Amino acid sequence: MEITEKAPAKINLGLDILGKRDDGYHELDMIMASVDLADRITVREIADKDVIRLQSNSSFVPLNKKNHAYKAAVLLKRTFHITTGVDIYIDKKTPISAGLAGGSSDAAATLRALNKLWQLKLTLPELAKLGEQIGSDVPYCVYGETARVTGRGEHVRPIENHKKFWVILVKPEFGVSTPDIFRRVNLAQIKHPDVDALEHAVVNSNFDVLLENLGNALEAVTTEKYPFISKIKQRLLDSGADGVLMSGSGPTVFALCQQEKKAQRICDSIKGFCDEVYLVRML
Ligand code: C5P
Repeated sequence: MEITEKAPAKINLGLDILGKRDDGYHELDMIMASVDLADRITVREIADKDVIRLQSNSSFVPLNKKNHAYKAAVLLKRTFHITTGVDIYIDKKTPISAGLAGGSSDAAATLRALNKLWQLKLTLPELAKLGEQIGSDVPYCVYGETARVTGRGEHVRPIENHKKFWVILVKPEFGVSTPDIFRRVNLAQIKHPDVDALEHAVVNSNFDVLLENLGNALEAVTTEKYPFISKIKQRLLDSGADGVLMSGSGPTVFALCQQEKKAQRICDSIKGFCDEVYLVRML
């Protein structure tokens, strides 16, 4: 038997840092939304071997124990005493080290796929709880769609989002290390977005208020190290984007648009500036 699960990329419409915890992680308050740029995870049982075999179409994917999909398989195998082996194929589409939770979404999709393959009958909350052990973004990625995410990332509350915008993702050539960016955070200098107002705008499909409240407390931190991010933002705004923001710890910048034609025009105009540009839709 073979199971394939989609692993969509996410963007942060809002990301606030509320403080630093005793365990070294930061207390966050975020609104995350999935987009239809997705990896595909295919799992297949290997009858007699007690191994986890990892393969990918992309040379950028680490095919070792650090891989989040691999960690997900180890976790389920150990927890539920699974003795057969499994093949995991990662069809990679989402850029890595990009602030789009590519690796975390692969882990979440692997949990969902193996839950089916091994007939574990775990619920999404149970999978999300297990996902916490792999990475902070994994619980959200188990659910996907639009959600308010708090704590370290373990508290996920899905929110209604009826208005699905066009999203232009612009990923510069370099990648970003999330721990490095969090290490550079100075809590006294944070500009806090109003995540409550943002949630309200999302729920009420109020595009203007949503645009006013887009905000990411990590954007200034990452931009200080990589000033090119502000150039991408400016370029997108000059091209007529309605709102622009860096996603997660960066470096991907996204622009939101209500109209497809406009989104396509902005996408075409930014292509000469950055190689990796995707026109996608919120899920
Ligand atoms: O949980 P994960 O391993 O994906 O997090 C990567 C790094 O990001 C952590 O090691 C930590 O430095 C930082 N982080 C944080 N607070 C969070 C989530 C991540 O400081 N809530």
